[in-house]
Amino acid sequence: MTDTEFLDDLKSRCLALIDGEDDAIAIMATLAGELYHSVEGFDWVGFYRVTAPQMLKIGPYQGGHGCLQIPFDRGVCGAAARQAQTQLVDDVDAFPGHIACASSTRSELVVPCFNRQGEVFAVLDIDSDQPAFFTKAHQDFCEDLLATVFSR
Ligand code: SME
Repeated sequence: MTDTEFLDDLKSRCLALIDGEDDAIAIMATLAGELYHSVEGFDWVGFYRVTAPQMLKIGPYQGGHGCLQIPFDRGVCGAAARQAQTQLVDDVDAFPGHIACASSTRSELVVPCFNRQGEVFAVLDIDSDQPAFFTKAHQDFCEDLLATVFSR
């Protein structure tokens, strides 16, 4: 199976698992579980939700404990929420303000989740213990999956 086939297959599985569900937390929990267990190298997968102005709070996740709150002006997650743009970080030590919830994390992909009004209401954070683990294909996959699930 090629990487593309693998990610296409993973997207189909994710969509099948949440078919008919419209509760955001139920969807986040299901996606976090499926992504974490499907991809070796995804060592932490979870969502942070915008629960107050300029503030993210932990949502459903798989992996070790994450920080409970992240202000928009801190960390990779904060940057993704503030800029409403995906952050693909090959080396977390080189990212100013990176928050080390786990000292084993080496690289990180954080993708904003937009609601149907086009507002960021959460971010998906995926961390890897391997440096430069994430590819443009991973980024495209996550952006496409989240748009399909939350924005359309
Ligand atoms: N590293 C993230 C914080 C969240 S955890 O790693 C689970 C960041 O810098 O935003």
